[in-house]
Amino acid sequence: MRLKSNDPCWCGSGNKHKRCHGDRQALSYPPVHLGGVSAPRPVPDVIVRPDYVATGTVSTSRSPQVQDAESLVRLRRACSVAAEVLIRTGELVAVGTTTDELDAVAHSIYVELGAYPSDLHYQGYTKSICTSVNGVICHGIPDDRPLEDGDIVNIDVTAYIDGMHGDTSATFHAGTPRAAVAGLVDTTREATLRGIAAIRPFEPLQRIAEAIEPFAESRGYAVIREYGGHGIGATFHADPHVSHHIDRSDDHIVVPGMTFTVEPMLTSGRPTFHQAADGWTEHADDNRPSAQFEHTVLVTDAGAEILTVTADGATAVGTLDSISARR
Ligand code: MF3
Ligand code: CO
Ligand code: CO
Repeated sequence: MRLKSNDPCWCGSGNKHKRCHGDRQALSYPPVHLGGVSAPRPVPDVIVRPDYVATGTVSTSRSPQVQDAESLVRLRRACSVAAEVLIRTGELVAVGTTTDELDAVAHSIYVELGAYPSDLHYQGYTKSICTSVNGVICHGIPDDRPLEDGDIVNIDVTAYIDGMHGDTSATFHAGTPRAAVAGLVDTTREATLRGIAAIRPFEPLQRIAEAIEPFAESRGYAVIREYGGHGIGATFHADPHVSHHIDRSDDHIVVPGMTFTVEPMLTSGRPTFHQAADGWTEHADDNRPSAQFEHTVLVTDAGAEILTVTADGATAVGTLDSISARR
């Protein structure tokens, strides 16, 4: 059940939700206006591109991605590169930094690591990451808007290397976090990890949504329905569609070797949104802030393994240990 504004806050403060993490004042931001977008950044010729960069069209084959030992080695590499780009770019989030500066830094790290930024020239997209600020639900295009104190920004990184895509995202605070907004961000991170921890081989994909949606609602947040995770590997966006809200018509069963993303978007407002004139940016209709985290995961014989970590196990998103310790 969704927490109501007069209920005691989920954080245990003893205050009403509307006087605590549900404080409307703290959850209100001016709309994020679209800014100036710089030219696409060049990628050295030695870096191998996915097919859609040359053809301009994305293959319609969306079959589920199931890895064997050989393809898994390559996918692990792509995922570790994505994790490193996300960590190093996230470190630069600060008041006054523009999202285009984040794109420039991310771009140079992909190239340094020998990877192609999967977003660049994907279905006409012209930047190397997505940066979604405050009331932008997803697919924000990096531009010349400087981040302001109290802003949140999701950075979404997808790296293509060795014929595989690795996809991961995290939400970062610029300046001093507002407590109510930090609650949204922390809850979205935990929801993502709980969703991953719920995965079991030969059981319904829907276990993910069953772990995420009631948890989000118990804290007063709503789950975005129209966007979900996706199969990933040699194809960027493949089947299955990974719903983060409970959908009883979804009868997918997961099997060991399958790889897909878990990437819930939670909003502190109503979960309806509209697309900007740029054809990408999805703005919440009520402009209330939303957060998102994303990992690429592998279904194993016991559950799921997070692939979007560096060789040292680092990630800006979090690991399953970080939630089991608290449960
Ligand atoms: N990385 C996004 C996802 O999680 C997709 C971005 S596609 C782009 O699936 F074209 F917008 F970059
Ligand atoms: Co992504
Ligand atoms: Co994704």
